[in-house]
Order: sequence, then C-alpha cells, then structure tokens
Amino acid sequence: MTSQEIRQQFLDFFKSKEHLIVPSAPIVLKDDPTLMFSNSGMTQFKDYFLGYKEPKASRIADTQKCLRVSGKHNDLDDVGRDTYHHTMFEMLGNWSFGDYFKKEAISWAWELLTEVYGIPKENLYVTIFEGDEKENLERDNEAYNYWKEFISEDRIINGNKKDNFWEMGASGPCGPCSEIHVDLRSAEEKAKISGLELVNNDHPQVVEIWNLVFMQFNRKADGSLENLPAKHIDTGMGFERLCMALQHKESNYDTDVFTPLIAKVEELSGKKYTGILTDEKDIAIRVVVDHIRAVSFAIADGQLPSNGGAGYVIRRILRRAISYAYRFLDQKEPFLYQLVAVLQEQMGKFFPELEKQGTLVTEVIKSEEESFLRTIETGLIRVEKLIQQTISEGKKVLPTEEVFELYDTYGFPDDLTRIIAEEKGLTIDEAGFEQALNQQKQRSKADSAQKVYDWVTLEEKPENFVGYDKTESETYITRYRKVENKDGEFYQIVLSESPFYPEGGGQIGDKGVLENAAESFEVLETKKENGLIISLINGLPKDAGAVFYAKVNDSERRNSQANHSVTHLLHEALREVLGTHVEQKGSFVGPDYLRFDFSHFNKMTDEELKLVEDKVNAKIKDSIALQEFRSIPIQEALDRGAMALFGEKYGDNVRMIQFGTSMELCGGTHVKNTSEIGHFKLVSESSAAAGIRRIEAISADKADEYFKNLEKQITELSQLLKSKDVVRSIEKLIEENATLKSEVEAFKKEKAKGEIGDWKNAYEQKGDKLLLVKKTSLDAASVKDIVFQLKKEIPTSVTVILSDADGKPMITVGVSDDLASSYQAGTIVKDLAKEIQGGGGGNPGFATAGGKNLDGLENAYQKALNL
Ligand code: SER
Repeated sequence: MTSQEIRQQFLDFFKSKEHLIVPSAPIVLKDDPTLMFSNSGMTQFKDYFLGYKEPKASRIADTQKCLRVSGKHNDLDDVGRDTYHHTMFEMLGNWSFGDYFKKEAISWAWELLTEVYGIPKENLYVTIFEGDEKENLERDNEAYNYWKEFISEDRIINGNKKDNFWEMGASGPCGPCSEIHVDLRSAEEKAKISGLELVNNDHPQVVEIWNLVFMQFNRKADGSLENLPAKHIDTGMGFERLCMALQHKESNYDTDVFTPLIAKVEELSGKKYTGILTDEKDIAIRVVVDHIRAVSFAIADGQLPSNGGAGYVIRRILRRAISYAYRFLDQKEPFLYQLVAVLQEQMGKFFPELEKQGTLVTEVIKSEEESFLRTIETGLIRVEKLIQQTISEGKKVLPTEEVFELYDTYGFPDDLTRIIAEEKGLTIDEAGFEQALNQQKQRSKADSAQKVYDWVTLEEKPENFVGYDKTESETYITRYRKVENKDGEFYQIVLSESPFYPEGGGQIGDKGVLENAAESFEVLETKKENGLIISLINGLPKDAGAVFYAKVNDSERRNSQANHSVTHLLHEALREVLGTHVEQKGSFVGPDYLRFDFSHFNKMTDEELKLVEDKVNAKIKDSIALQEFRSIPIQEALDRGAMALFGEKYGDNVRMIQFGTSMELCGGTHVKNTSEIGHFKLVSESSAAAGIRRIEAISADKADEYFKNLEKQITELSQLLKSKDVVRSIEKLIEENATLKSEVEAFKKEKAKGEIGDWKNAYEQKGDKLLLVKKTSLDAASVKDIVFQLKKEIPTSVTVILSDADGKPMITVGVSDDLASSYQAGTIVKDLAKEIQGGGGGNPGFATAGGKNLDGLENAYQKALNL
C-alpha cells in the first residue's frame, strides 16, 4: 500500500463514519501569540475546544502538517539520530466536539487498524491512564472496559501522567489518553522478549502510532483542573509511522514517504544510504530528507527564513541540514534546493501549495544555502586563526568567549568548530560553552517572560467586534486577567463591544482609551488570541463592572486604514504592471507607513515603479467606494475573482473587500472611499529575500507631510537662489561653475609654466650634481608634470618639491635618469616624509609622499637642502 493510499483510506474511513473531511491548516500559525507552528492536529481546533467558536461540524477528520521544533514539543535534536522522529510530520486525526466519546473513538480506531489496514491484533498494545493521586484523578476504567472488548487484558497497560494525560499547553483543555502501540519485530525477536516490556521504552520497532485523547478537563493558569462543559475526542496518528507499520519497514525513512528523496540525495551526492543508525553519512541523509520537508512546507505557507520568531526557527532547521550536508555529504555548493522538485512530485497533489509555490520555495532555499555556505567559509578562516593563536600561546583549549561569538554572532555551527579543533589536537571548553549558551537563553527569556493569570469573568455577555462600523462604543468588560512582565503590571481585558481592531492581516492593533466619569485607562495594544479580542490596559478599574466608553485613537486608525486600503490597490497595480506571478508574501500596515513583500524575481525598474505609483494614484482620484461583503461563502468570493493568500486559514464564510476591480479576502479595517487615501507615494523598493521584493510606501497624513516638506525645501531654495524658477537657476549655477573650473585649470597651467622657467634656473651645484628644493602651493598633478619635465631636461639632478595645496603637505622627488643607479627617489621621499608624519613611495626616478603634519614641511625643506 502506498503512502498516498494509506492517507486516503484514513479519510475515507472517517467519512463513512459521518465525519466532515477538512484540509490541513497552514503549518505556520498567524495571530496566535502562544504558538508559532501547528504542532498537532488539534491546533486548528483550539477555539472549538475552548468554547470560543462554534465547530463547523461535530465530527471532523483530516491530515495535518505539523512541526515540532519549538516550545513544549521540540524533537529537533533527535531527528536523524533515530528512525521515527521528525521535524515535519503528518498527523491523521478524528475529532468529536461534544459528540461521540470514548466508546466510539476506541472501537473505530480498532476497526480501522485491524480490519481496514489489516494490522495483526497480536502486534498491538494499548495504554490507559493509571490515575494520579496528587491531581485527585482516578484510573481511566471507562477506557479500560471498552478496550477489554477488543484486546486481551494483559495487553492493556497502565500508564502514568507523563504518557497518558495529554495537555495542549501550560493551560487549556486536557484529559486522559489511550495510546496504541505496534510491535513490528520479527517472531524471533518477539520470542526473546515480550513487547509488553518495550512499550514506551524508545524501542525503534515498538512504537506508539495513535493517541486517543479524551478531553474532559480544562487546566487553569493556577494549575487546577475543572470539568469541561462538553466532552470531546482528539486523536492523532503519526502518518509516517503508520506507513512504516503497513509497508513492513524497520524505519520511517524506508517508506515511500522518504525513499524518493533519499534516492535523489544519493544521486546528487554520490553517497549511498545504508540506513545505519550511527553512521554519520546516514544521519546526514536522514537530517537532509527530513528537514527539506519542514522548510519547504513552511516557505510554501508563507514563512520565509529570517532572523527572528518563526522565520528564525525555519532558518535554523535549514542551516542544520546545510551543515550536515557540508560535513558528511561533502556538499560545499548549494544542493538541498534540488530536492524540492522531488517533494513536489510526491506530495504536490495532496498539498497543492507545494505545486503553486514550488519556484519560490526552490529559489529561497538556494539563496539561503549560498549565504550560509559563505558564512561557513568565512567562519572556517576565523576558526583557523583562533587555532593558530591558541597553539602559539601554548594552550590546548580554544578561548570560550571567541568560540561562543563564532556561534552566536557569526552563526558558525559549534560542532564544526569542535571537529576542526579536535583535528588539531585542541578542544573547546564544553562546560563554559554550555554556560554561555544558558546565560544567553536566560537573557532572552527574561526579556520576553511574562506571567499571565487566570481570566476573571465578569459578565456573561456576547463579545463582539464593532470596529468595522464605529470607532467609539459604550461597552462592558466581560473578563480580565493580570499580566506581569519586565515593564510592570498590566491588565488584559475583553469587551462586550470592542471597537479596537486586533492586530492581524498585517495591520497593527488599535490603541485608544477606555474611560467613564470615574476612571480612565490607556489602551496600549489590541491582539487576538484564540478568537478573543484582548486589549491591554495600564491598570485595573476600581469598578470593573461599570459601563465604559471605548475610544479608538482616531488619527492612527484613519492612517492605518488608508495604508491598508492602498496596500490592496498596490497589490493589484503590481499584478497589472509586472504580471500575475506577483503574490503577497507579507505585509505590515501601520499609521506611518506600509511595507509590502511580494513574489517577483527582478529588481523593479524606475519606469515600472512610476507606472505602479501612477496607477494607484489614479484609483485614489477615481474616488472608488468600498464594497464590503462581511460574510460570503468562500467559493463565491473566489468565483468573483477575490485574491486569497497562501498560508492563510480561511473559514467557510469570509469577508471580502472590494474597491472596483480590486477584490481581496481581508479582515482589516478600510477607508469608505479611496479618495480618503489622499495620495500614495513609493518610498523604496528592495530585495526582501530570494525571489521576494519589498516595497515601502506612505499615504494619507504622511504623504501630505512628505509633500509639505518638499514644498518647504523648494521655497527655501528659491529664496536662496532669489528666483522662482529653481531648476533654471540651478542649471545656470552648474554652467557657471563649469566655466569657472576650466578658467581655474587654464590659470594653473599658465602659472606652472612660469614656475618651470624660474625653477630651471634655480638648481644649486652640490659637488658634481645639481639640487633643487622648492616650496609651492601648486596642486599635485601640476607638480608631477613639472618634476617629470625637469628630471628629463636637467641631467645629473635631484629635484625636491614641497607642496601645501589644499592644506595637505606633500613631498615630490625626481631623480634624473643618469643618477638612477646612485640615488633612489623612493628612499629620499621616505626619509623626508617622516617630518610630515607621512609615507609614500614610487620608483627610483620619481616618488611622492603625503602626510598629516603641515607644520613639518619646513623641517623637511631644511633636511632636503642638506641632501
Ligand atoms: N493532541 C494529541 C497529540 O498531539 C492527539 O491528537 O498527540
């Protein structure tokens, strides 16, 4: 059975059990401050579990792209070293939201595994939660009794809280779980030792494949548990492990999920994969084929590698792969990008984002490879220097500070430093390095640490966003919680009617005030978390239950929404001018400016930029009215021609923003008419990443300000020039300047001619040679000409000219050709230049030196006279 068939059978099975089949959510999460990536199938359903949103069906099933490389679930360091951990993996899952519970979840799991997939029953073990005294939780006898109907009791194993109680995070929905483990060993191995002893013991052939979570509690921030109002099912099955079991392989990497990628690596590198766990080349191949999936899916979903946040995590994964390929597969040139096509071929049908974004993914990976390989090359030079220095000081251990700096500042992999040092018989101070690493982690943790308390609920009122229609509203605080961070103590509040737009879709969240006759608070930011609109205020009202007046900062909102609307017009204009390959790849919309990243492979020309700017301004002038479709079926919006973005999670009903021919799915706030934007001005166009261009621009008040400043400058110029026609006056100045320059040149030449005549006659006889020492203010080029002429015309002579043109001391020495064997112009100039703190050189016949000390010219003059 191919992996494609295995995936399809899972979905078909749950469809037959009346589940709605939904697509995977993007792997990269937007607008969730608690998590960067989908790390399990249930991530996209958190709002349903928390009761913030109505589920679109009470039974759902899907396969979800997951990434476990940060936060609570982080498997990165294990990947490559075993046969069954991955950064990116697919999680097959079925869910019940207040619908079926343990009985059905257990019996369907059993039916699918044993009857549909045909896994022999004797290869399966299940675990159940044994209970926990401290938490006051009983053994999960309910699950035990259901399992008993299918599997003999000696194969049902009690598991502790660590393995059999699943929690989404530090707080939130949780509950006991049952894991299903499969024993893939040979009969011979099984006879030696029972699978019972190997469950949950990191045995590569006795692995967990499916986790059935019975969500029945909510973990509060104070650590206590409360019952959830409705019980839910959340199951997650590791797709790659399931493929290993069904394809009778000993390693996930031997399934057809990975073999095409491995074959390509073998072809490109000329190295053979032997599947050995401890073999460095094999580890490297596993790392490469695992990481390329994580990185490709993340980029396809819109997350480019960068220096912070989720982008940094992606960059680190990619760099780990590059570094392994460099060290163990001898890949010193970009190489990983060539695997993208294989991945596309394999998974592009099921995950169309890989097909559509393939070129971009390939380009981005290639350029990241190029730049990191450069980092490695320069890092190698630094390491070499460090090693030489350590050896020359007679030491055996590289200095920790420098080793850490290499890693931290220059991004050079520490294991490379370690290996190179060892080759030279040196070591690094492991404990010291570890300590530096920890200190750095602590520092960044302390910067971002915040303690969040439990919600205090005040009013059971609906919590609505009213900010599309108004910027002021009478409202109640429905819940609040305290937040402590390094800046102090704040309160997060949720309002019954919130006019404050929560940060999202690139647009920054609203600020403003919350007040009534008795009290007033500043609203510092507004964000969305699990569907709640949360504003941050600088204190807790004495009477939190009172009526408040919420007021958005009007000027900031007005300018932000002008920048947001104009971003849509810009997007459309770019597609018209450059082509429909242009797609939004990121945006920031604030009151002061907008930033727009888009796919395009060349630098934009001045003409293209002008055309785009003109098109946008024409739309502003056309005074196009906003048509807002607050909730229309997504298919209808797409049929009408609306732009949807990759990596964005859309519901069944969407909001569509239309200005004439510009139509986008968007949750942001917008002007009612394009004329409110005033004017659009491009500020810069640059490269944001490989294949991605970045435009920065202004509109509304900032554009007004820009033109006002420009006008002010022109007024000042015209006053200075005493002319209304500034351009003509400056042209005239330039002309005059050119005339004056050529007059000065001619004058200098004339003067030099005169000097030559005088100087020819001023040579002094010194023994059988002639010497001329002269001071002048002639410029360097004239002096050079003269000295060359003199040394040619006056035989047996040495000429020394000391000049101070433009306040800079300079010495020029010429020696006639017949003296070239006995005198060196270079040596003479070097000696004299000491007096002016300078240096220089030339050839035996001609040399010059500039210096710093103008006053030293007199000494040099006296010295030259005594030559
Ligand atoms: N949430 C559970 C897990 O991640 C089951 O999907 O294991």
